[in-house]
Parts: sequence; C-alpha cells; structure tokens
Amino acid sequence: MNKTQSIVVASLIIGLGLTACNSGNTRRNPGKVYAPDMTYSRAYDAYTYNPNFADSQTSRPPVAGTIAMGHELPDHLVEGDTNAYKTYTTALRFNEGEMKEGQRLFNIYCAICHGAELDGQGPLYKNGKFAAMPANFKDAKYLHMPVGQMYAAAKYGKNMMGSYASQLDVKQRWQVIAYIKQIQSSNGGDAFTLGNMPVAAPQANAAADTAKAVEKKDNKG
Ligand code: HEC
Repeated sequence: MNKTQSIVVASLIIGLGLTACNSGNTRRNPGKVYAPDMTYSRAYDAYTYNPNFADSQTSRPPVAGTIAMGHELPDHLVEGDTNAYKTYTTALRFNEGEMKEGQRLFNIYCAICHGAELDGQGPLYKNGKFAAMPANFKDAKYLHMPVGQMYAAAKYGKNMMGSYASQLDVKQRWQVIAYIKQIQSSNGGDAFTLGNMPVAAPQANAAADTAKAVEKKDNKG
C-alpha cells in the first residue's frame, strides 16, 4: 500500500466511524451505535410518544364501528327498546358442540343464580344470600319468553340481575339462550330442534319500534 492509498483507507475508516456515531436517533438514543437504522425501528413503536396525534399516543383505538374478526354485528337496539327486543332474534344456528358450549357458559355465568336445573334455585339465592328470586325458567311465566327479551336481559341486566355484555360476546349470549330454550322445550316450552332458534310471534307495534330503534346508536355490541 502506498502513501495515497493509506490516506484514502484511513479517511474512509474515520468517516464510517463518524457516521455510525452521529446518525443515531439522538433524541431517543444519545448513545453510540453501529448501523442504527438496523437497530432502531424508523416507525413509531407502540406505547411511545407520537407527535402526529393530539393525544401523543402511537397506539390508536380501532375506527368506530369496527367489528373484531369472528364477532357478530351489533344489534343497534338500546336498553329500553323493550318491544323491539321481543321480536328480535338471530340468524345464528348452533350444532351439538355449540349447544354444549352454551350449557358450559350457562353453568359458569348464570347457574349461580338461576340454578343448574334452571329452576331459579341457584346457590346464591337458595342459601338466602341474594335478595331477589332469579327467574325460574321452568315456570310458565318464562317458558314462552321471546328469545330477544332474554337476550336483552343478558345484555343489559334486569332489575337485580347485572349485565353480562362484558363476559359474553353476541354469539355466546345466543348460545346460552339456545341452551335455556332447549331445556325449556322438554319442560313444556316451545319446540326446540337443534339448529333452530325459536322466533317470537310478531307484535302489533314491534315494526314501528324496530324502525325507530335502528336509528339509535349502540356501542355496547
Ligand atoms: C346474580 C344473580 C343472577 C345471575 C348470575 C344471572 N341472573 Fe338472570 N335474573 C336474576 C334475577 C334476580 C332475575 C329476575 C329479575 C326481575 O324480574 O326482577 C333474573 C331474570 C332473568 C331473565 C328474565 C328477564 C325478564 O325480562 O324477565 C332472564 C332471561 C335471565 N335472567 C337470564 C340470565 C342469563 C342468560 C344469565 C347468565 C348469562 C343470568 N340471567 C345470570 C339474577 C341473575
């Protein structure tokens, strides 16, 4: 290597060193790093400060109205749309495995009050600890209850019963109701055949009620 070559090589090495030291993202990482573009993402990392949004958050919520994959469309009715819910039903149809899952979910979320036998004698009530009697689904009062009304109870709660909207997604709520209907059918309730969700008889004012209700927004899913 002659003198000129040595100078060229030396200045290249020094130049490279300086580039590596200075081109790092100095705001976030003042330290020295070789090839910083490969070490640090040029995109904003989740949970980091982001000057592009008014709230400085990089992680954004989904666009309003987004429906997660595998989830059902929301029903667009709101609490208090009692008549509309009486004729409300679902297009979902369940197979044997899904019915079993409905039973499992019922036993987890509902049986503590409504009883594993669906007779309203769950341990929370039977032992005298719960102030109101949970619905006895084998009682004539509930045997023909429209599925939509049951759905509304699961979604919003009813008097002393709380809402199960956060524990059960739309499909799961219908699975639980299908299970209740199945048990009711062998206790004097409406006929229930696998893969069929019984629909309530339409009511006189239900159409108008439904039309009004679709106008309203509902974000509870
Ligand atoms: C903490 C106790 C409790 C739990 C748990 C519970 N319920 Fe209830 N439920 C009640 C009570 C009490 C009532 C009676 C409300 C009334 O009519 O005042 C009721 C009533 C109902 C009704 C009748 C609604 C109506 O319009 O009259 C349905 C349907 C129902 N529950 C479904 C469910 C389902 C499905 C679950 C599980 C996801 C569940 N409940 C869990 C206490 C409970």
